Amino acid sequence: MNKIVDYLSEQHDRYEQELIDILRIPSISGDPSHTEDMHIMADTLMHEMSKIGMNKAQVIETDGHPVVYSEWLNAPGKPTLLIYGHYDVQPVDPIDLWSSPPFEPVIKGDKIFARGSADDKGQIYIHLKAIEAWLAIHGSLPVNVKLIFEGEEEVGSPNLKGFIKDYEKMLTADYVVISDTPMFREGYPGITYGLRGLAYMQINLRGTNTDLHSGSFGGLVKNPINALVEILAQMKDDQGRIRIPGFYDDVLPVSDAEHDKLSKLPFDAKDFADSIGAPALYGESGYDDLERLWARPTLDINGIWGGFQGEGAKTVIPAEAHAKVSMRLVANQDPDDISNKFISYIKSLVPESMEADIEAMHGGFGYVTDLNNSGLQAGVKALEKAFGKEVDFLREGGSIPIVKVFADTFQAPVLLMGYGLPDQNAHAPNENFSLYNFHKGIESIVYFFDEIGKLTA
Ligand code: BES
Ligand code: ZN
Repeated sequence: MNKIVDYLSEQHDRYEQELIDILRIPSISGDPSHTEDMHIMADTLMHEMSKIGMNKAQVIETDGHPVVYSEWLNAPGKPTLLIYGHYDVQPVDPIDLWSSPPFEPVIKGDKIFARGSADDKGQIYIHLKAIEAWLAIHGSLPVNVKLIFEGEEEVGSPNLKGFIKDYEKMLTADYVVISDTPMFREGYPGITYGLRGLAYMQINLRGTNTDLHSGSFGGLVKNPINALVEILAQMKDDQGRIRIPGFYDDVLPVSDAEHDKLSKLPFDAKDFADSIGAPALYGESGYDDLERLWARPTLDINGIWGGFQGEGAKTVIPAEAHAKVSMRLVANQDPDDISNKFISYIKSLVPESMEADIEAMHGGFGYVTDLNNSGLQAGVKALEKAFGKEVDFLREGGSIPIVKVFADTFQAPVLLMGYGLPDQNAHAPNENFSLYNFHKGIESIVYFFDEIGKLTA
């Protein structure tokens, strides 16, 4: 193991340079003008996989952006890991708020600033470099490894479920490993054992077939924006509870033991509020802050539009009003069931004078796993050895909807070993990734392969 660690320190600067190179590629999955960049990014990863000694490295086309896959399966009798990550990134808007251009990576202190640095290119690179180091020093890995990097995670993975079905045999594994989550605090490694799910909806209301003069018609027609805000005002009660009938039916409650564990994590509400510039925090009554954030479902209006938004005043009754609403779900809520309940509830609130069209956009299940599986324990050992600190056991409020699909398809635990930090600004201007975590992350995955290689398949 020492030889590999020595190799890592010799390669320290090159690893950073290579990370900079992949961060330069603007692989924004949601923007059709970047389709070519998605292919450049996928090809770059495929070549990197071949170069470090992975077998069968290939770019596999889908109906959307391609999947990159490779494998190294020369460790008979040893467990097989399926390492998943995503090479697509979020759009960069609002661009004016970036201190340096999002695709011109800059290192300041310990941090590298670029879109995708933490979410998720920096984190997938950790795995590539750990594999490189093992193969460079020993010519072999102590486990079987399959790598799958997709290009559509940030747009809801529309093609990955079908891909997993089509390639189920090729992808089958004993453990799924994902590095796409943050740690809870600087210096302390974390393992995430729960994620929230998602149901994303759009509401379209139409009152008339054209905008109307509010003097000539006001008083005799219902305004769709008025109707929309009246409906949305009925989504939650004054305790912050969601009023959709049956919404909480399948929510898995937090056990007393878990509640105790969560309450031991150092969380300061005032610091948290200060860090995001909020005068105070807000949440559902009767729950602690981390439970609200990780183990309770939410409903948020993501955007609302319609009517006149220009300079000056315009006396108009708009014909239409729209809103996008997302619900973060928790285990064991089913996104389809929740979408249907949402639609029925909204329909029950729509006045006679309006036509409503309610659309379920995308969604996914939440996830929670047992802490007692031996793969997860191998992860704990490896992280503690690399970082020299005890592991924090975390849940997260964000979603990686494919996690539940992997867990169900392969009946395999999903190990979420994430290396981001709370101030990584994922999806926001000035996204960044800690280089300390990058290098320690590589070291921890080197140890992790060794630990998991001690288990039998
Ligand atoms: N890396 C995140 C997931 C994440 C975020 C985990 C925060 C833990 C904490 C991932 O890239 C992401 O942004 N997921 C989307 C999923 C959505 C597009 C279906 C999310 O959570 O909004
Ligand atoms: Zn993301």
